[in-house]
Amino acid sequence: MRTLFLAGNWKMNTNSVSSINLAAGLVRELAEIQNVRIAVCPPFVYLQSVSASLCGSQIELGAQNVYFQKNGAFTGEISCEMLIDCGCTYVIIGHSERRHILGETDELINLKIRAAAAAGLKPIFCVGELLEERDKGQTFDVVERQIRKGLDGISPEQAAAVTIAYEPVWAIGTGRNATPQQAQEVHECIRRLITEMYGSETAGNLTIQYGGSAKPANTAELLAEPDVDGLLVGGASLKVEDFAAMVKTAAAIKK
Ligand code: PGA
Repeated sequence: MRTLFLAGNWKMNTNSVSSINLAAGLVRELAEIQNVRIAVCPPFVYLQSVSASLCGSQIELGAQNVYFQKNGAFTGEISCEMLIDCGCTYVIIGHSERRHILGETDELINLKIRAAAAAGLKPIFCVGELLEERDKGQTFDVVERQIRKGLDGISPEQAAAVTIAYEPVWAIGTGRNATPQQAQEVHECIRRLITEMYGSETAGNLTIQYGGSAKPANTAELLAEPDVDGLLVGGASLKVEDFAAMVKTAAAIKK
């Protein structure tokens, strides 16, 4: 039995006031929710204040990125230990904006996943193909390469703490979500790959989120798919009513 998991990726949005209002609004709206795992991932600089706003609620905190070294002369970077110190349980690693805008490689992403796993932070590991890769029929090859390289050296015990987020790059921030069937097809392949890598128990327990223009209107149909275990939500996570509506929809789904 996998518990549905919805995470809000706030990206480079909000400010010191609106981040707290957003967190407080979600705490209020979602106080009665059961059986859904919920997390929000604010910008680094608001982690501590959002953590304070979430205190006592079931909503967990995640960061959007991390560096793999523990400490030292790495100007501008943030370590796993710092994130844990600020109250984080999760960290998004390998988001397509970091891969494609900031130039992160599979190798760097692997170092980050290893560091997070060793520190006890739960990675939300993002994978997904570009539109031209999908058009050339390379979707599964791309996702398989990203997963094999990203999880290189990760033990079965560490893999159990990883969430994989399938986020087709052409669906992110475009308003054009993958159809539930397109998402299911890739999620099924991911679970098969994890079965091959780690066995059926780890694969059966693995949470695979879909991300890319997920919103209240498509939440139910995406989550109805057998291998879609949650959503990583960008734009729609910035409005209390939208993200809360998505979580409530998830809470009403029986799988
Ligand atoms: P979006 O972003 O929901 O705005 O498409 C999703 C993501 O990048 O995680």
